[in-house]
Amino acid sequence: MNSDIFEPKILAFCCHYCAYASADLAGSMRIQYPPNVRIICTPCTGRLEVEYFIKAFEQGADGVLVAGCLEGGCHFIKGNLCAKRRVNAARELLSEIGLEAERLRMVNVSAADARPLADYIIDMVQTVRKLGPSPIAADATSIMENFS
Ligand code: FES
Repeated sequence: MNSDIFEPKILAFCCHYCAYASADLAGSMRIQYPPNVRIICTPCTGRLEVEYFIKAFEQGADGVLVAGCLEGGCHFIKGNLCAKRRVNAARELLSEIGLEAERLRMVNVSAADARPLADYIIDMVQTVRKLGPSPIAADATSIMENFS
């Protein structure tokens, strides 16, 4: 990484069945994505609460990506649709406290295709890099310190 360029810390919640499998496949296929992302595997994105996203920012993340199964493909039927609603609610909360909503994003990917997830990660890193460091992250002393 170039030390002159701001390198955002992105936390990615990936559902076990599709997004995490997609990230695994990307590794197997040697599809590269920026090392700015740390992945947390979750059984389903429907398990994620709004407070998890807010907590990630409080603990030093500059951006948060939620990656679930394709719509209609959630292994827990509607988990990804619940996650979509919660991500949208959290984005509104972020806006209310003056943080750019673009720092939080939900995407849907297939376990059978690694390229889309890699592209989403690349785009997320570029977006957050342009936004600059999260003002919340600047104050954080946390698990994200182990990032670099
Ligand atoms: Fe993947 Fe629900 S199992 S989003």
